[in-house]
Amino acid sequence: MQTEISSAPSFPPGDVVRRSESAGLHAGAPLSRLLPPARAILLTGEDMQGAEQRLHALVGSRVEVVAAIGAYLTTAGGKRLRPMLTALGARAVGHTGDISGLMCVGELIHLGSLLHDDVVDEGLERRGRPTAQRVYGNAAVILTGDFCLARAVLLAGEEGGHRAVTELGAAVTAMAEGEVLQLQRAGNLTTTLEEYLEMVDKKSAALIAWCAAAGAWARHDEAAAQALVNFGRGVGVAFQITDDVLDYSSATGKTPGQDLRERKLTLPLVYAMQRIPDLQERLLGNQDIPALVEEIRASGALEDALADARRRADRAIAALSVLPPSDYRDALVELGSYLVERAT
Ligand code: IPE
Ligand code: IPE
Ligand code: MG
Ligand code: MG
Repeated sequence: MQTEISSAPSFPPGDVVRRSESAGLHAGAPLSRLLPPARAILLTGEDMQGAEQRLHALVGSRVEVVAAIGAYLTTAGGKRLRPMLTALGARAVGHTGDISGLMCVGELIHLGSLLHDDVVDEGLERRGRPTAQRVYGNAAVILTGDFCLARAVLLAGEEGGHRAVTELGAAVTAMAEGEVLQLQRAGNLTTTLEEYLEMVDKKSAALIAWCAAAGAWARHDEAAAQALVNFGRGVGVAFQITDDVLDYSSATGKTPGQDLRERKLTLPLVYAMQRIPDLQERLLGNQDIPALVEEIRASGALEDALADARRRADRAIAALSVLPPSDYRDALVELGSYLVERAT
């Protein structure tokens, strides 16, 4: 099901838009930063529709509260970046079959991890709604998170085979470790850049890498899977850096300043402490979160962090050059950039 959009022989494609503005720092962000790139949307349209239907069925259960929590989060929106990565990665390596199930694996793991994350972080809003545990309580939400994770593992085995499911086990293990590391380091302003990077690689990039490579594992294409893992890990770290920048923005469907409230040391804060000499000292005292958010936004630290994320994404995108040229590969390049440039 190749959809020809252009013959685009160059790598990376010449029409990847490099944008200089800071991602999502105000509500009026242009469409290009609110939506994934047009080529990716066009190429995956049919697959995304199939996966969406499948996802709603997959979060269904005869246990009413499980189904209600699943529907609460899936109907609230979400960018569906993980299914889109799986679709483009699979099609880029020549997978021509039905991939709707494989595409749902990453989103189900993501849903489970969001349910758990919002309990751990005491998150207030998610996808523009009160977080699930504020509506259904911690216990039901944690157990429904387990349900999503288990269902995803089952599906990965069925749709992707042995290698895909063992790699998924490793990715979910890393995610749990990353979340615990973050918890342990909360309030520790001496966390190093290396420690921060290890944490984001585990908690976010491992799953993003799995999503990109799933189709290649399903087709037993080791070389392509390795390239897609390298791509996914790099853009995954960049994606989480952008998430940490967007924590200072008010247009994400999450509460701004949440990381500061949780005393998480993220990359924007590392740069802010370099730019504002007495910030570290003041962070140890009583915090006026909205004032700190404003001060850090004004310091230029968010731009520093985004520039860092862009460099990482660019390096990661280069890993795709070993894949055969196709519109799908070009769309992956553009989606890799969007993971950093996005406004939500
Ligand atoms: C948020 O992920 C959680 C992180 C791993 C940073 P997304 O930004 O992909 O969230 P949705 O799916 O669009 O809500
Ligand atoms: C990502 O971390 C969470 C997961 C890997 C589930 P965050 O805690 O930064 O995610 P948000 O900002 O709450 O979406
Ligand atoms: Mg969180
Ligand atoms: Mg965050």
